[in-house]
Amino acid sequence: MRYLPIFYQLLFFPLFLSYQATLPSSSSSSSATQLCSHDQSAALIQFKALFSINKTASKHCEIRSYPKTNSWRESIDCCLWDGVNCDNITGQVISLDLSCSWLSGTLPSSSSLFLLSHLQRLDLSVNDFKKSKISSKFGLFSSLTHLDLSRSWFSGRVPYEISYLSKLVSLDLSSASAIDLISQSFESVLKLEQSTLNGIFRNLTEVRDISFDGINMSSVDPNSFMNLSYSLTSVSLTGCDLRGTFPENSFNLPKIKYLTLFNNPSLSGQLPNSNWSSPLEDLVVSGTSFSGELPESIGNLKSLRGLGLIRSNFLGSIPRSLGNLSHLGFLFLSYNNFSGKIPSSLTNLTQLRILALNFNRLEGCIPDNPNAFPNLGFLDLSDNLLSGTTPSWLYTHPSLNVLDLGNNQFIGHIKEFQQSVLDYINFKNNTFQGTIPRSISKLVNLTFLDLSSNSLNGTISWDIFSKLQNLTLVILDLSHNNLSGIIPQCIGSFSKSLSSLNLKMNKLHGIIPPTFARGCGLKNLNLNSNHLEGPLTRSISNCKDLEVLDLGNNKINDTFPHWIVALSELQVLVLHSNKFQGWIGASKNPQSLSKLRIIDLSQNNFFGPLPISFIKNFKGMMNLDEGKAVRYMEERDNAYDYSYDYSVALVVKGLEIELVKILTVLTTTDLSGNNFEGEIPRVIGELNSLRGLNLSHNNLVGHVPPSLGNLSQLEWLDLSSNKLDGQIPRELVDLTFLSFFNVSNNQLVGPIPQGKQFNTFENDSYEGNKGLCGLPLSIACSSNEPRQPPPSMNSHNEDGSKFEFGWEVVLIGYGFGFIFGVAMGYVAFRARKPKWFVTLVEGGHSSKQIVGERKGRTNILRL
Ligand SMILES: *[C@@H]1O[C@H](CO)[C@@H](O)[C@H](O)[C@H]1NC(C)=O
Ligand SMILES: *[C@@H]1O[C@H](CO)[C@@H](O)[C@H](O)[C@H]1NC(C)=O
Ligand SMILES: *[C@@H]1O[C@H](CO)[C@@H](O)[C@H](O)[C@H]1NC(C)=O
Ligand SMILES: *[C@@H]1O[C@H](CO)[C@@H](O)[C@H](O)[C@H]1NC(C)=O
Ligand SMILES: *[C@@H]1O[C@H](CO)[C@@H](O)[C@H](O)[C@H]1NC(C)=O
Ligand SMILES: *[C@@H]1O[C@H](CO)[C@@H](O)[C@H](O)[C@H]1NC(C)=O
Ligand SMILES: *[C@@H]1O[C@H](CO)[C@@H](O)[C@H](O)[C@H]1NC(C)=O
Ligand SMILES: *[C@@H]1O[C@H](CO)[C@@H](O)[C@H](O)[C@H]1NC(C)=O
Ligand SMILES: *[C@@H]1O[C@H](CO)[C@@H](O)[C@H](O)[C@H]1NC(C)=O
Ligand SMILES: *[C@@H]1O[C@H](CO)[C@@H](O)[C@H](O)[C@H]1NC(C)=O
Ligand SMILES: *[C@@H]1O[C@H](CO)[C@@H](O)[C@H](O)[C@H]1NC(C)=O
Repeated sequence: MRYLPIFYQLLFFPLFLSYQATLPSSSSSSSATQLCSHDQSAALIQFKALFSINKTASKHCEIRSYPKTNSWRESIDCCLWDGVNCDNITGQVISLDLSCSWLSGTLPSSSSLFLLSHLQRLDLSVNDFKKSKISSKFGLFSSLTHLDLSRSWFSGRVPYEISYLSKLVSLDLSSASAIDLISQSFESVLKLEQSTLNGIFRNLTEVRDISFDGINMSSVDPNSFMNLSYSLTSVSLTGCDLRGTFPENSFNLPKIKYLTLFNNPSLSGQLPNSNWSSPLEDLVVSGTSFSGELPESIGNLKSLRGLGLIRSNFLGSIPRSLGNLSHLGFLFLSYNNFSGKIPSSLTNLTQLRILALNFNRLEGCIPDNPNAFPNLGFLDLSDNLLSGTTPSWLYTHPSLNVLDLGNNQFIGHIKEFQQSVLDYINFKNNTFQGTIPRSISKLVNLTFLDLSSNSLNGTISWDIFSKLQNLTLVILDLSHNNLSGIIPQCIGSFSKSLSSLNLKMNKLHGIIPPTFARGCGLKNLNLNSNHLEGPLTRSISNCKDLEVLDLGNNKINDTFPHWIVALSELQVLVLHSNKFQGWIGASKNPQSLSKLRIIDLSQNNFFGPLPISFIKNFKGMMNLDEGKAVRYMEERDNAYDYSYDYSVALVVKGLEIELVKILTVLTTTDLSGNNFEGEIPRVIGELNSLRGLNLSHNNLVGHVPPSLGNLSQLEWLDLSSNKLDGQIPRELVDLTFLSFFNVSNNQLVGPIPQGKQFNTFENDSYEGNKGLCGLPLSIACSSNEPRQPPPSMNSHNEDGSKFEFGWEVVLIGYGFGFIFGVAMGYVAFRARKPKWFVTLVEGGHSSKQIVGERKGRTNILRL
């Protein structure tokens, strides 16, 4: 589920915001029989003068935002001004609503605002007060019933004097919006201390709504919430950095409808174990350290509409009684340790729109009920232990947009879809068998399809995809399947919108069509391990952005593709195990291939001398600045928090492996298994960033050049099965990262160098050389052999900070989803934002800004 995290965060939070207190609009004035008093009007004009008008100050506004103070003119009765409301008897200003009014500037204690002592309602939310302190003078508004200072860039501590406002019904001091709170860069600028909180709980006996989202309350004892007023209906404590244990009785407040403790990772607690009943409608305990079981008595919360318990430590079975909650619309239990079966009673939830149970340990079948969840739009059951066949209702459900069953143990066929609103389908890593359902072509809004790592087979029908509309990250990946057929001619026209084409590990046959056209946008072309044949199409040279070209393990019959020098961005070239043949000859362009870092021409029939003029140009393998950060070759979509990693198959340290990620510091040259002749050119010693060099199984003669000792990063060196003679140069002892070394089956003589890495190599590194002597071989060197001097002391950087391309890294790769022999792959397309996202979130108040801000749609199809 790497692809949805932002969706989740956005989905499970804002949907519950509907109970936030909203001030009644006071923009229309009362039937003012009394004129506004002069002092009030003067105070307002002075207040207005403090600020400049700047639309950016209210950019996070979710309602209509406009500069209300622009209408304020002394010639007009102030009771008629935008945002101002007066008492119709006394003419005193009793309500001031300047929310979303583009105010920009500091708000000092000396402001004339504090002269409006009759205010009952004050709303300054969503402006930019430039990190002003909240003045203690707010405590002077003794008639205030509604105070909203949210999201207006106040900073510092909340003054104790706020607790003097004993008539307050609604208090909103939230310092951040939902979208800020989930962003990693969020930083609290407001602080609420214990004494102030105690004062608020003691004095604000009428209060119904409090919202302290994003205020740092880390110094507050959560037990003080035991003193929450019985009058409360809404308590919002998102992202408050609360620490300790939250008191259970707060879940039983007699009037509470909305309670969120979202994103307080150091806050622990349990839900009431028995006799839980309250009028709760929305409860969010996601992103906390709450633990224990979900009590059966949760079924008593008959008014519950939304329950969010994501990423906490809940366990045990999902209570059957949840099925009694007939108003439940959103149920998020993801990322906990829930076990047991999905209770069939849940299917009775007629109002349920979102059901997310992913990342738990649920087992058994998906309950079958033809009328299950009539209003469901989003179903995520991924990453559980669910099994059995999939019930028909999943395929016929009229409103289901998102269906995620990935990483379970489902079996049987994927049925034909009999609806067309599905937009996201993930069935990966189960045991589905049979063919890809043709009805996929009718899912016109499909943006993500992943059927990888199953047991699907049959011929790939390209027309299934050609019918899908508007497919232009773009990434098309059908790798690791048993798919047969040819690559169609139309792939050429596809290639203008494709950035990655990965058909690795299938059974495709025929030629690579010569249809790659000018404007081809491919960066990554991977056709490794198919049955492709014929000559290699020169049209690939139209793909000027190509970074990775992997054609290994096919039957391509051609000479070296000299046109490749046109690909100035090429970093990875793999022609391993084909029927390439002939002399490579000289490079026709001395600047060519200067970015190449990985070249693998092994297991072909090239002959003649090693291609020195190319090797000289491999600037990408020289003096590489590795920096500190380990990076991978990838395509990123930041808007979607998604990245697609390039992969490549290589022989590393004698083992053929697939690197599911390509480190940008990995540099290798593999020319093994050909008929190259002549000597190893000295110039190879200039490729000083090489990590791997394999020249084995050729007809190379002469000495091993001592210049190989300059390859200080080298981790594997294979010169075996040639006709090399002379001694092993002692310079090689300085290769301190060398962990795989093979010079077997040559005609080498003399003593084996001793010391450092050379103490770790065994017999098989040397066998088949009749003239070698010394450890580890049992043949001792005779006294008239020239003695190896002791290893040089100026050894290379051996501190641990240097990155070593070791097995750990390969294993990290596996962690991202690759396992030998398991079929997997995906097709990814990128276009606009998925529709369901808009559709499902629109109901929530805070969603519009999020929807508006999120551009870019990543369409991902995995097969
Ligand atoms: C408005 O505020 C933004 C952000 O503080 C600032 O970059 C911009 O210059 C301001 N515009 C004016 C006209 O002052
Ligand atoms: C004054 O306003 C109140 C409520 O705002 C209204 O009920 C009342 O009729 C008004 N009185 C006059 C004299 O307009
Ligand atoms: C309650 O508010 C009043 C003013 O309304 C104030 O004088 C008093 O100190 C407050 N009490 C506490 C305990 O905060
Ligand atoms: C809250 O304040 C404490 C103490 O100043 C600090 O350690 C902590 O990082 C802050 N938390 C947040 C979320 O800013
Ligand atoms: C609740 O309020 C009372 C009176 O203000 C106070 O003495 C007590 O310590 C508070 N309880 C907690 C747990 O904070
Ligand atoms: C669903 O509700 C109906 C009627 O309310 C009830 O008869 C049935 O037993 C319920 N199904 C489950 C699985 O709880
Ligand atoms: C596909 O998306 C469009 C635009 O959101 C929508 O109008 C249309 O109904 C959708 N089609 C189906 C079959 O869901
Ligand atoms: C697909 O696999 C099934 C067994 O899972 C087998 O019976 C069938 O013949 C295979 N079909 C093709 C076209 O290979
Ligand atoms: C493709 O998308 C564009 C705009 O995004 C839209 O105008 C057009 O109708 C779509 N075409 C199809 C066939 O859906
Ligand atoms: C390669 O193709 C040529 C001509 O098309 C043919 O003569 C030759 O036998 C082929 N080589 C291999 C190894 O298939
Ligand atoms: C496939 O799912 C199993 C659990 O069913 C999980 O252990 C494994 O890591 C998953 N494999 C991949 C490649 O995601």
